Amino acid sequence: REPITILGLESSCDDTAAAVVRLSGGKPEILSSVVYGQTALHADFGGVVPEIAARAHAEKIDLCVEDALEAAGVALGAIDAVAVTAGPGLIGGVLAGVMCAKGIAAGTGLPLVGVNHLAGHALTPRLTDGLSFPYLMLLVSGGHCQFLIAHAPDRFTRLGGTIDDAPGEAFDKTAKLLGLPQPGGPAVEAAARAGDPARFTFPRPLLDRPGCDLSFSGLKTALLRARDAVVAEKGGLTEQDRADLCAGFQAAVSEVLAEKSRRAIAEYLALDPAEPVLAVAGGVAANGAIRAALETVSAKSGLRFTAPPLALCTDNAAMIAWAGIERFRLGLIDDADLVARPRWPL
Ligand code: KG4
Ligand code: ZN
Repeated sequence: REPITILGLESSCDDTAAAVVRLSGGKPEILSSVVYGQTALHADFGGVVPEIAARAHAEKIDLCVEDALEAAGVALGAIDAVAVTAGPGLIGGVLAGVMCAKGIAAGTGLPLVGVNHLAGHALTPRLTDGLSFPYLMLLVSGGHCQFLIAHAPDRFTRLGGTIDDAPGEAFDKTAKLLGLPQPGGPAVEAAARAGDPARFTFPRPLLDRPGCDLSFSGLKTALLRARDAVVAEKGGLTEQDRADLCAGFQAAVSEVLAEKSRRAIAEYLALDPAEPVLAVAGGVAANGAIRAALETVSAKSGLRFTAPPLALCTDNAAMIAWAGIERFRLGLIDDADLVARPRWPL
């Protein structure tokens, strides 16, 4: 049945994306991956505005598809199926992608494959590293935080996840509270390099509770209190204060993620995987301190640690096209009744 060439569409948050991925001779190849970000559109609002996002997706998605086909040098006639993120995400954006994909499918007769956005992230290490099932996956971004065991393209076990904020969100809010630029993750990481992580004591939320659930909203509150205490005492923050606050915050996030990973690894190893691997995806996986902590935990338990290249860790359509190929191969095809689902647990 190979080669299989699939067009993928992604529009569930603030990136409009289209990509063409081909599987040939058992090897996947990304022929194109186009992302139109919306960061500038939402910059004045301190977060993604669903209405603005939906409009921008609807305006850009057709163009994005044309660009992806052109960059891949592939005509629609050479495509085997159209894969699209059908959720979870902001409903207006998901709808824009699903409507576009349905239009293409109706116009060409191509099969339609609805993909869960989280499955797209979770299957990426098979595209980039050829991982075999089962593997352990940690998704850490501005919107997601969960531990998954991937058993098959359509079968995942969720071991736990955040009960409030995602870590990226906490990094972004920390940056905002300290007057650092957005996105907050890279800014906080840079500031933390000159900081003393032991000067301020931050909580290690949920470590006292069994299981793999996480919480990050308390850390943000602790940071706010620590900042206000310094300001009350000295009338403002010095560079060193900022660095120490960032270092303390980052150390707390790293430690919590590492300890929860240790627990997730123990559950995963009980399956006796042939090639044990911990894979991470999401923008927060770019953080050097967090990566180092996860690598250490993996190595101690005899797991290989892997992270897809950053452009494939953050939202993109190549992961959707790839998840589409995985589903298509199993005959998991949808029809014109495919619905956009704002909530859709794996
Ligand atoms: O995966 P992503 O691009 O988008 C979604 O949230 O889906 O992740 C973006 C998040 C932002 O919150 C950003 O601050 C965070 O990833 N991030 C980082 C770093 N680089 C990006 N967080 C910590 N350290 C970093 N170096
Ligand atoms: Zn995502």
